[in-house]
Amino acid sequence: MYMNIAIDGPAGAGKSTIARRVAKELGYLYVDTGAMYRAIALFLLRSGVDLSDEDAVSKQVKDCHVSLRYREGQQEVLLNGEDVSGLIRTEEVGNAASASSIYPKVRDQLTCLQRELAAQENLVMDGRDIGTTVLPHASLKIYLTASAKTRALRRAKEYEAQGKAFDLEQIQRDIEERDDRDMHRKISPLAQAKDAVRIDSSQMSIDQVVERILQLAEEEIK
Ligand code: DC
Repeated sequence: MYMNIAIDGPAGAGKSTIARRVAKELGYLYVDTGAMYRAIALFLLRSGVDLSDEDAVSKQVKDCHVSLRYREGQQEVLLNGEDVSGLIRTEEVGNAASASSIYPKVRDQLTCLQRELAAQENLVMDGRDIGTTVLPHASLKIYLTASAKTRALRRAKEYEAQGKAFDLEQIQRDIEERDDRDMHRKISPLAQAKDAVRIDSSQMSIDQVVERILQLAEEEIK
């Protein structure tokens, strides 16, 4: 049996930074499942399909093959063989991922792939439904959250560092809208698994959160 650590939580809670660090410390593989949903979303955006049309989206995704590749420990996400790791990091693709991940045809394909990976490796996997649906028997489950205001401020800082213009209130509204959609969809909504440890990072540094998860992981490994 492999050690699987599931980290779920809303957008902007710091999941990927923290999950990547935890995986590195433990020598585990890091799997970013959001990147997989983003790759499918990019495919759908390119195809021009109406994202509110479930039948059309379900037909389109049959031609969409997502896979992962690791180079020097870094995850790369491939869309029908093309490395799209850089192209998927936009708000447009993130919102399209949130909109298209509500459909069973999209989720089933990726859930299968995620379970296959978890059966082969020690890993840290982050997303929205890892502890509840993808890996219900994960060795350790974390629900990582932070207030919408804190998450908006963090995102604004990133924009500032990149020299991009932003509107803090708009960022917070977008975050709340995405939370609402991810938490209220019919299939595999974002939720804290009953046996997950909840960590609110609003008042914590990245180092503190990583430290806490490593402590919990050590208790499981013992
Ligand atoms: O974590 P992220 O921002 O890269 O995720 C983008 C969207 O993908 C998110 O808003 C909802 C969807 N997603 C999901 O439904 N299930 C997952 N396990 C991961 C992401």
